[in-house]
Amino acid sequence: MPPPQIYVERTLAIIKPDAMDKANEIEDIILRNGFTVIQKRKVHLSPEQASDFYVEHYGKMFFPSLVAYMSSAPIGVFVLAKEKAIKAWRELIGPTNPFKARETHPGCLRDTYGKDQTRNAVHGSESFLSAEREIRFMFHDSIVEPIATEQAVKIY
Ligand code: TYD
Repeated sequence: MPPPQIYVERTLAIIKPDAMDKANEIEDIILRNGFTVIQKRKVHLSPEQASDFYVEHYGKMFFPSLVAYMSSAPIGVFVLAKEKAIKAWRELIGPTNPFKARETHPGCLRDTYGKDQTRNAVHGSESFLSAEREIRFMFHDSIVEPIATEQAVKIY
C-alpha cells in the first residue's frame, strides 16, 4: 500500500527590492513562524514580466510606478508551505500601506520593513487561485529565459 499523502497549502512570498538588504532576517522570521520553504530563487524581473505578474492592477493609477519599482532590482521569491499558508502569510505581512500597518498591525513585516505604499517590503498571494498562478509564474523556467543571466541569478 502506498504511504498516505498529506497536502499542505502553498503560497507565494516575495521580498521586494527595498527589503532585499534584509532578506536573511526576513527568511529567519518566515522559518520561525512555522513556514517551510519549498522553493526559493532570486529573480530580476523585466518591466514586461512585472506587468504580467501584476496584470490584475493594469489600468490603475499606481500600475506604472509599481511595475517600474518591481523591475528596478532583484527580488527574492519563495514558495512557502504551512497549514492555511495563504492567510497566515498575509497576516504576517500586514496591510498594503506600511503607515496603516504600523497603527493596526504593529510588528507585522510591512510595519517593520516597509517604506511606503509601493515600497512595502513583501508580497503575498491573496487567494488559492492567485497562489497557484503566481507560483507557476515565478517557478516556470520561462521566467529566467528572457533575462540576461547576470540579472536573473538563481542563487539558492
Ligand atoms: P494590492 O494587491 O492592492 O496590495 P497587496 O500587496 O497588499 O495585496 O496592490 C499590489 C501592490 O501594488 C502593493 O503591494 C503595492 C502597490 N500599490 C501601490 O503602489 N499603490 C497603491 O495605492 C496600492 C493600493 C498598491
